[in-house]
Amino acid sequence: MRNQSSRPFPPLGTVAAATLRALLLAAFLPAVASAAEPQEIGDQVAGRLFASLMTILQEKIASEGPEAAIAYCRLEALPLTAQIAEEFPQVQSVRRTALRVRNSDNQPDATDRSVLEKWLASWNPAALPKPVMQEFITADGSKEIRYYRPVPVMATCLTCHGSGDEIPDNVRAAISRDYPQDQAIDFQEGDLRGAIVVTFPAE
Ligand code: HEC
Repeated sequence: MRNQSSRPFPPLGTVAAATLRALLLAAFLPAVASAAEPQEIGDQVAGRLFASLMTILQEKIASEGPEAAIAYCRLEALPLTAQIAEEFPQVQSVRRTALRVRNSDNQPDATDRSVLEKWLASWNPAALPKPVMQEFITADGSKEIRYYRPVPVMATCLTCHGSGDEIPDNVRAAISRDYPQDQAIDFQEGDLRGAIVVTFPAE
């Protein structure tokens, strides 16, 4: 502190270099970032999908009742999903997975499972883990990059993923009719429910 106050201005060379660096960053960073940052795109895509899923479920439960709302806990049911495909052509796919699934199409593969198990092992609802980037080699040998965002259980989710009386009888009956293999009940608020996975082709 004392050193700085005795020398109020940094040497000119430092200012020039800092200014130049700032200008270079301003000129080049945004373009590079938007072309090459799957993590940033993943944050946007998964964040918006999660928010939209919650809103739509809340709305449908309120307006049409929980049984009718069952059809809306699917990414394909969100208008935003088609919009995102248009807005982010870099995105190869968006899906959801979990250690305990309702729809067996969402079953985790080995890579999904290892991400989810790692999260679960140190799960703390007050401090959600950061999204994870993971490289993956497909069956045909091509590489893809995956972005994983944790999905926590919120109060709204308990109507269909909770336990006991939290799930109304008609909802429970409809779920076991449509998903006889359902494993996605008995969650509590704050639990890890699963992941939103955004996939990008790797160069
Ligand atoms: C009205 C009932 C209902 C509510 C409320 C609900 N879900 Fe679902 N959830 C379902 C159904 C039905 C499926 C299976 C969808 C399918 O066939 O792909 C599902 C599937 C999922 C999946 C995909 C993995 C799997 O198990 O197949 C995730 C993740 C999920 N729900 C998270 C949530 C979260 C988080 C909330 C709260 C914000 C929530 N759900 C609220 C009915 C519901």
